[in-house]
Amino acid sequence: MKSLPCTVVVGGFWGDEGKGKIISYLALKDEIDICARAGSVNAAHTVIHEGKVMKLHMIPSGFVNSNCRLFLGAGVNIHIPQLMKEIKETKVENRLGIDPQCSIIEEKHSIQDKTSAHLKGVIGTTGWGVGPAIEERVRRTAKLAKDIPELKPYLTDVAMEVNKAIDEGKKVLLEGTQGLYLSLYHGTYPYVTGRDTSASAVCSEIGVGPKKVDKVLIVFKAYVTRVGAGPLPNELPREEVIKRGWLEISGTGRERRAAPFNYELAKRAVMINSATEAAVTKLDVIFPECRNAKNYEEFPDEAKKFIEKIEDEIKIPITLIGVGPGPLQIIDRRSI
Ligand code: IMP
Ligand code: MG
Repeated sequence: MKSLPCTVVVGGFWGDEGKGKIISYLALKDEIDICARAGSVNAAHTVIHEGKVMKLHMIPSGFVNSNCRLFLGAGVNIHIPQLMKEIKETKVENRLGIDPQCSIIEEKHSIQDKTSAHLKGVIGTTGWGVGPAIEERVRRTAKLAKDIPELKPYLTDVAMEVNKAIDEGKKVLLEGTQGLYLSLYHGTYPYVTGRDTSASAVCSEIGVGPKKVDKVLIVFKAYVTRVGAGPLPNELPREEVIKRGWLEISGTGRERRAAPFNYELAKRAVMINSATEAAVTKLDVIFPECRNAKNYEEFPDEAKKFIEKIEDEIKIPITLIGVGPGPLQIIDRRSI
């Protein structure tokens, strides 16, 4: 199970499952050659790199491995000031490739998003302008990366580069954003993002066909959280969320709503993504004793039961378990 020629990583609930941490772990541990990102600016992938907490909206989380080539697929919407800021912070100018057909989020899109009574008000978007930028793209009046002089040095045929790397047997990771239930097609419409967030969409946005993928790793958090409006089955009252230590503040500064792990939603997410394995993050938030465990055997029985119950329900193995915020605080069961 150790090598992973081409793996797609997706979120199984409403985003913020900890994809950034899992991807950065794999990038280092498995010495990933290529990390290509789909999606849009979203709320952020959090990566701890050299002791610094980084919130990435654009740069693939695999940047933590300095040998890893990074790509933004054609389906990505680029927010240029944010991208430039992150290129500087992560120092990846020499190993980043951008597809000429990425579309651009313009200032007017962010303004439209932030001032729309429907988008910001009713749906509770992140306000980056993703939805309005996609509308513009669908009208076929969008600016593309190839029209932007600042992006010229990075332009490359991402579909070609990624497919070539897969054909050469390189280790390729395709990074999805958000989670299945924020999908425009499979989520809790209209309380969703402006795009499909499933594994198929990740591949499509990057330009990789369904037969090129070996593994689909779905990331779940040990409990469910959601920011913005829309249904959240079994949502806990705020006091209970605080009592359980589950209160989190999202990348956009908003409090996340929370509910216990949802087996039905997890099963459906595994089905729609054709997931082959799962990661469960933040297990230590529910079972603090897990934080000091060096392997699965050291978990308390209750924690093991919880993991085994999830596996029983979703019918795929849980290969990675997050037991603390640090980049290496992961129990890796892949060699078992
Ligand atoms: P938009 O993607 O900004 O249009 O927001 C649509 C919905 O998706 C809102 O409920 C947002 O809070 C949610 N959302 C968008 N990106 C993320 C994310 O990265 N994590 C969690 N929720 C997100
Ligand atoms: Mg996030």
